[in-house]
Amino acid sequence: MDDFTSAFHSQVAVVTGATRGIGEAIAHRLAAMKMTVVLLARDRDRLEVVREAIASKGGSADVFPCDLHNEEAIDGLGKHIRLNYARCDVLVNCAGIGELGKPLHEMEVEDWDALMATNLRAPFLMIRALAPMMIQQESGHIINISSLAGKNPLPNGAAYSASKWGLNGLTYSVAEELRKFNIRVSVVAPGSVNTGFGGRGDSGSFKDEAWKVQPDDVAGVVEMLVRQAPQCFISEVLVRPTRKL
Ligand SMILES: NC(=O)c1ccc[n+]([C@@H]2O[C@H](COP(=O)([O-])OP(=O)(O)OC[C@H]3O[C@@H](n4cnc5c(N)ncnc54)[C@H](OP(=O)(O)O)[C@@H]3O)[C@@H](O)[C@H]2O)c1
Repeated sequence: MDDFTSAFHSQVAVVTGATRGIGEAIAHRLAAMKMTVVLLARDRDRLEVVREAIASKGGSADVFPCDLHNEEAIDGLGKHIRLNYARCDVLVNCAGIGELGKPLHEMEVEDWDALMATNLRAPFLMIRALAPMMIQQESGHIINISSLAGKNPLPNGAAYSASKWGLNGLTYSVAEELRKFNIRVSVVAPGSVNTGFGGRGDSGSFKDEAWKVQPDDVAGVVEMLVRQAPQCFISEVLVRPTRKL
């Protein structure tokens, strides 16, 4: 094993949205790289299941059940990481929700607020909690999981699209703020991924989702970003299904 690969062994990654879908796949990938992965989402039982699955493969993970709408809880996460690990090398802001299927003028204000709190305010709070540690250690990688809906219009998903356009702007701007500290801030924008996102897959009816990007495909992109040589900063990756349905 070379020095570059073995360096990951002492590193700490935090992944939001780690109970299922893309976040779970990313957590597995980073744990397989021998990073200690802190798993964050609301469902404590499901977090434990993911932690045990990682441990059964020889990986190391810790759980931090937390509602990303809760500012104090996220501040608490920052303290937890500082106290227990004294470093943070990778932050993946993956948790997100979708409010899809109706025009903006029919959307409830509380649904707008929940969507923005999860998709846009939470990455801000997570960066606020963890970037100071990265600045102190003069290294780190923040990866925000956006969407192709943050690059294109999405009729009947305007608020979701706006949250992801906002996340892209946040990412590009914070990247410029943190470059001087040797910190990379990247955005990954997938198209349709085969998860239960937005309530899909809950109907029980069989659907062939094989044409979609798979969660591990996105996790592979995250691994590729993290593995780049320190002088190389890939700022944005768009991930499309090969076939267009
Ligand atoms: N699937 C797609 O087609 C697709 C395409 C492009 C982009 N994306 C983006 O990829 C990301 C992950 O999507 P996914 O498909 O993996 O979704 P998913 O399967 O629905 O998973 C969403 C994750 O976010 C967590 N979460 C939601 N609200 C939370 C909150 N308030 N506090 C803490 N955790 C919360 C959920 O955990 P708990 O419920 O346990 O809290 C869960 O782990 C999202 O940002 C999404 O916008 C998805």
